[in-house]
Amino acid sequence: MNVQVIADGVLYIHVDIKTTELFEGIWPIPQGVSLNTYVVKGDKIALIDLVRDWSDAPKQFEQAFASIGIGFDAVDYLILNHLEPDHTGWLREFREQNPYVEIISTAKGINLVKSFFKINTGLRVVKDGETLDLGKGKVLTFFETPNIHWPETMVTWEAASGTLFSCDAFGSFGALGTKGFDDEFTEAEHAFFEKESLRYYANIVSSFSAFVERGIKKLAGLAITCVAPSHGMVWRKDPQKIIDRYLRYASYAKGPGEKEIALVWGSMYGNTKQGLDAVIYGIEQEGVAYSIHRVPDEDVSYILQDAYKSRGLVLAMPTYEYAMFPPMAWVIDIFRRKHITGKTVLRIGSWGWVGGAKKDYEQAITGLQWNNLESLEWPGVPSQEDLAALEARGRELARIIKEQA
Ligand code: FEO
Repeated sequence: MNVQVIADGVLYIHVDIKTTELFEGIWPIPQGVSLNTYVVKGDKIALIDLVRDWSDAPKQFEQAFASIGIGFDAVDYLILNHLEPDHTGWLREFREQNPYVEIISTAKGINLVKSFFKINTGLRVVKDGETLDLGKGKVLTFFETPNIHWPETMVTWEAASGTLFSCDAFGSFGALGTKGFDDEFTEAEHAFFEKESLRYYANIVSSFSAFVERGIKKLAGLAITCVAPSHGMVWRKDPQKIIDRYLRYASYAKGPGEKEIALVWGSMYGNTKQGLDAVIYGIEQEGVAYSIHRVPDEDVSYILQDAYKSRGLVLAMPTYEYAMFPPMAWVIDIFRRKHITGKTVLRIGSWGWVGGAKKDYEQAITGLQWNNLESLEWPGVPSQEDLAALEARGRELARIIKEQA
């Protein structure tokens, strides 16, 4: 059963999405994702966030809702913390089943209700800090938290239970199954969700890290005993753990991350790979941890996850038709869009009849504020001198990463 009790009158419903369809049309979710909604019952009933008509989410949601003995038509208020369609896509269908429900969001959120769903009645704008008294001691307070994840986003606070309904903030990829709370998952499951929360953050939230820090600071005065996001587990045992994790993730956006190196490589006929192996040997001699990702074989979602958290990058690519190897150009474009800044970077690669990747690369990384080691290129197969130089460059990069404060 995907309905759980957070506190008396505060219920948690999650539906698991398992699909080959990409999240936001771009990010793979092979282990699924959960869409979480919440019910707060006083004299009036509020539903916080909704689901999208995606996979069998509406069916799961309807079954879960029926199990708590409340009809959709009994819901007085639908609180929309964030208008991205993963939380609102089923809004018109819900409204058809409950024409009298009042839809509550920020001013920007209500504008999106109108533009996305062409719903123009029964709407209420709430301001930052405004409250909604449901009766029986249940009072909801709304705090604007713009750009976590879209400009209209807010969070909802229920003081009696100390629950923060944080929407995308503190969320994660990964389906939950029959469990929902942090104290229900095993250590191995937590390790899985930690990785998936980093991937979710790097893919979805990283561009807005300054807003994450601002939002957490703004909410610091609340006595939070439960963090209830719209994706992933609910944190009732150790809510500070996910808050601290998000602060750590946000800090990666400013520059140095973990003392690790993410190696991203593509090779047409193995010549660039030979050079990369020499760099790896150099890194290993210095004992610095690294991850390795081949393009185009590996999805950029996973590359972003490791590149975002790592202080060092190695980008290995051949020249392809006078420019960067195209799958690497796509990765670097994503790095640019996701503001993967402040890294220490080594670029290497082989060329055939003529170079060109260097010039293309240097144009592409303008504005990323990377500390670039001198790049190494070679014609065709790397010579013994090339390999020695590549190994030395790998050592140099690893030493810089190790010695950074
Ligand atoms: Fe889960 Fe930004 O939507």
